Amino acid sequence: MTTISIHGVQLPLLTGDPKTWIGAHLISVKQITPEGLSLLFDRATKLAQNDSSFDVHPKTVVATVFYEASTRTACSFQAAAVKLSGNFMHVDSKHSSSKKGESLSDTLACLACYADAIVLRHPSTGIMYDVLKQGGDLIQKPLINAGDGTAEHPTQALLDVYTIRDELKHCGENITLICLGDLKHGRTVHSLVQLISTTAESIVWKGTLTISYVAPEGLEMPDSVQQTITQANPSVKQYTYQSLDDALKNSSENVVLYVTRIQRERFDSDRDYEAVKGSYVIDRDLMDKYDKIRMVLHPLPRVDEISTDVDRDPRAAYFRQMQNGLYVRMGILSLILQQQT
Ligand code: NCD
Repeated sequence: MTTISIHGVQLPLLTGDPKTWIGAHLISVKQITPEGLSLLFDRATKLAQNDSSFDVHPKTVVATVFYEASTRTACSFQAAAVKLSGNFMHVDSKHSSSKKGESLSDTLACLACYADAIVLRHPSTGIMYDVLKQGGDLIQKPLINAGDGTAEHPTQALLDVYTIRDELKHCGENITLICLGDLKHGRTVHSLVQLISTTAESIVWKGTLTISYVAPEGLEMPDSVQQTITQANPSVKQYTYQSLDDALKNSSENVVLYVTRIQRERFDSDRDYEAVKGSYVIDRDLMDKYDKIRMVLHPLPRVDEISTDVDRDPRAAYFRQMQNGLYVRMGILSLILQQQT
């Protein structure tokens, strides 16, 4: 098996060979190869058409372990497990023994005794690598990263990129991805820009990919993420703009507008949050002004950054994106939990 070392942990590369996915931890988008992405997307498309040939063993249990709030990620993984003929158990920080002082490694080692896979969300950046380093030998079940602090949210990026391909109807030539919002703390956008730049070429885009970043002051995309892209695929152009209008004016056709929420919970004080709150809103006027916006995506939840009068615009793709989350997560679980032949 080919592996990649990330933060001192050897993780499998997830390729077009379904065997590489069996029992694998999925922690970072860096693990996924272009062929692996195609395999997953083809499977998600079949699952969306009610293909039941990828069901898991009916006694399969998926643990969803969430130390941060979630509606879509937790529920879509749970629904995915059930729709694949398996089951789930949910654990959250309020009701687990972490309340009694148990370490996360011990909790996961416990859950690994009962479940066949563990989907984990945690507020600490990099925690997935820490638990695998400390207690990886005791957590002998696949661990799926459902969001670690401000670092990554790989399954969200997978469903985002799936949605972009699906909405474009074919592999798009010359796409501009505009990322708007809290690009400093937004883990979904960190995973998305890396996945689309390094892995999705010729699956989602051909020709050129331009990524434009628009963020309130102090919430810019980290240099480290931009550098990862420059190193991995120097053909991708990255620009930073002060305003969304400037980014749109300077974009060619085929704009994918990816909007994110300001991550209030990551701010040191409410005052800092209030200073940037409400600094951008996508509304009807903007949508009418720019035909070049092909789709609007948002990982959700939204607060006030997309006005509800945009919801019924055919280019408002965020509800379809959320639906795709079910199929992509079914694809992920079915590949990781497939029975060895
Ligand atoms: C995102 C997250 O948790 O990072 N939500 C999600 O999983 N769809 C985005 C957010 O909370 O803003």
